[in-house]
Amino acid sequence: MKIISVVGARPNFMKIAPFIHAINAHNGAADGETIDHILVHTGQHYDDCMSRSFFEDLNIPDADINLGIGSGSHAEQVGNTMIAFEKVLQQERPDWVVVVGDVNATCACSITAKKEHVKLAHIEAGLRSRDMTMPEEINRLVTDRLADLLLTPDRLSSENLLQEGVPEEKIRLVGNIMIDTLEAQRSRAEALDPYEIVSQALLPGQADLSPEQKRSVRENRFAAMTMHRPSNVDEQKVLTAILDFLMDEVAADMPLFWPVHPRAQKQMQTFGIWKRALACENLVLMNPLSYHELLRLNMGAQIMLTDSGGLQEECCVLGTPCLTLRWNTERPVTLRDHGGASVLVGNKIESIRNAYRDNVAADCRSTRPELWDGHTAERIVTELLK
Ligand code: UD1
Repeated sequence: MKIISVVGARPNFMKIAPFIHAINAHNGAADGETIDHILVHTGQHYDDCMSRSFFEDLNIPDADINLGIGSGSHAEQVGNTMIAFEKVLQQERPDWVVVVGDVNATCACSITAKKEHVKLAHIEAGLRSRDMTMPEEINRLVTDRLADLLLTPDRLSSENLLQEGVPEEKIRLVGNIMIDTLEAQRSRAEALDPYEIVSQALLPGQADLSPEQKRSVRENRFAAMTMHRPSNVDEQKVLTAILDFLMDEVAADMPLFWPVHPRAQKQMQTFGIWKRALACENLVLMNPLSYHELLRLNMGAQIMLTDSGGLQEECCVLGTPCLTLRWNTERPVTLRDHGGASVLVGNKIESIRNAYRDNVAADCRSTRPELWDGHTAERIVTELLK
């Protein structure tokens, strides 16, 4: 069987790593059909800190083919990816294309695969925020409408698909593949010194940690955050208000560590608030972190503030109280109401403040969702071979 799997952007890499390792394990066992696997990187993310470091840390082999698409508008990214991926499919003629997650690469390669009459499998199918202003929601809807095999991370996602009329025989509940990576890499992350992580990632212009901050980070008295969604960083009023809250209230309580996504940095510079953020002593701006570094900070943080989907899931498994800086989530199993660790706080300061006060250092007992057990990739390979 010949499979082409596709990655494009940072959140894809921790989802594809376990899949490739499970294929290698299957081929190594040498009973049954072997899988001929080709990894395609669309090149949507290209900076070393957004791409290469994840390949190295998660032991992902170099992509067999890099489409070199780079940044651009959504139409440019999707269109250019389709043009380049069509040529790959015509040359390689795989039995299956496997896509993960919900980025532009996912959507572009799904459409191309179906137009080339290649079977399509979607890992992380069925997530729905029902928020059509999110580009990811459009990518998810298109991909799931086209997929022949829909591999879901939880029961709520399977139910979403059934409600949309997807035939039951196309849906397989396999669990969350990101948690395979978390479980495989947990001990490596645990061994890292959080102070070393922070001090090595400081941005130019950020002073090294003070002795007091150094003590706090080693004693796990700190907050961590990530934020990059257009809904939070693209509007000056919204971004400025959040930044003021972070500086005046969270950083007033404890050091707040923020590895800054290139998009968020660019927007803060455009709005003229970047220098003010750099000057706040207890708000520590950092370069994007590696997978293990961010996982280590998440393990120690008293609270996580984030608009990332993956971090909501990791907080759920680690039990880190998480304020999700969005009004909706496609991952409701991560919410407190479902036994998870997150609360939705949107981007209005009063709502963030109230939840922050309630949750900071809360004793967070989250329950691990069904099949988030570190063995999802093996189940996926079994399903594809069936
Ligand atoms: C993309 C995904 C989003 C995911 C996020 C994780 C889509 C629609 N969005 O958003 O779901 O949560 O990745 O990071 O696919 N840039 C760099 N270096 C890079 C890549 C990007 O500097 O290696 C900058 C460029 O200025 C670029 C901007 O970041 O224009 C945005 O990158 P893009 O890939 O368009 O979207 P993300 O915001 O990263």
